Amino acid sequence: MADQSSPPDVADVPRVTTKTVQEMKEAGVPIAMLTAYDYTSARIFDSAGVDVLLVGDSAANVMAGHETTLPMTLDQMIYHAQCVVRGIDRALVVVDLPFGAYQGDSKEGLQSAIRVMKEAGAHAVKLEGGAAVTDSVEQMVTAGIPVMGHLGLTPQSIYNFGTYQVRAEAEEEARQLRKDAQRLEEAGCFALVLEKIPAALAREVTASLSIPTIGIGAGDQTDGQVLVSHDALGLSTDFNPRFVRRYAHLSDTIADAVGAYVADVRTRSFPAEDESY
Ligand code: KIV
Repeated sequence: MADQSSPPDVADVPRVTTKTVQEMKEAGVPIAMLTAYDYTSARIFDSAGVDVLLVGDSAANVMAGHETTLPMTLDQMIYHAQCVVRGIDRALVVVDLPFGAYQGDSKEGLQSAIRVMKEAGAHAVKLEGGAAVTDSVEQMVTAGIPVMGHLGLTPQSIYNFGTYQVRAEAEEEARQLRKDAQRLEEAGCFALVLEKIPAALAREVTASLSIPTIGIGAGDQTDGQVLVSHDALGLSTDFNPRFVRRYAHLSDTIADAVGAYVADVRTRSFPAEDESY
């Protein structure tokens, strides 16, 4: 008979839901989140055990080559999300609402979130900001859409910040971030990304919230971690902040493989007889 007193192995569930990530926080099981933008990568990441796949608007940088995330459109996000959703069996798929799809008008924000859920089959949306977006969060949550918040270095506000440096080092900004985190939880967010803030502040915010926090450049005491997959896998080579750990050097691996293919074509050693009809 199963031991009724032991906690469920939440990291092993067949399908990760918002309830699962909440249970992971409560059980002290760190949540692994990674970005994905296409079907093939999503299949690999999902089968490797990633809990949450974020269809990030960082697609603007790593897929489209833009300098910032601002040019990303809602239609483009929906396309990437559709590709990712087709590739998963287990992971929770969270999709970024892009710049311009929710700021300022909570009704437009709700319509954007509904499109992402309906047209892409996403499981949740993510948006950036604190007090300014709590109306949008409330409307989405009321409509049954799970929302992940995002505080700290929010890239859609890069022109406001003027720099990609660590946020909330000054006490006034830290105080505002603590307040925003509380408001997002009260508005109904199921989780919160904390990007590039001091580890001590991330630890404090994590302890003060009942919803899970997912850190990127926010130290080791958040409830989970997220990285942009192109950074973690070494596909992007020109972005080297200290919070990125490279788990592979795929850029080199791919360049070597493609170089070998080109050489084989030039020397007519590809295709061989058994690769021909
Ligand atoms: O767009 C993105 O990839 C993100 C992560 C960096 C959290 O928002």
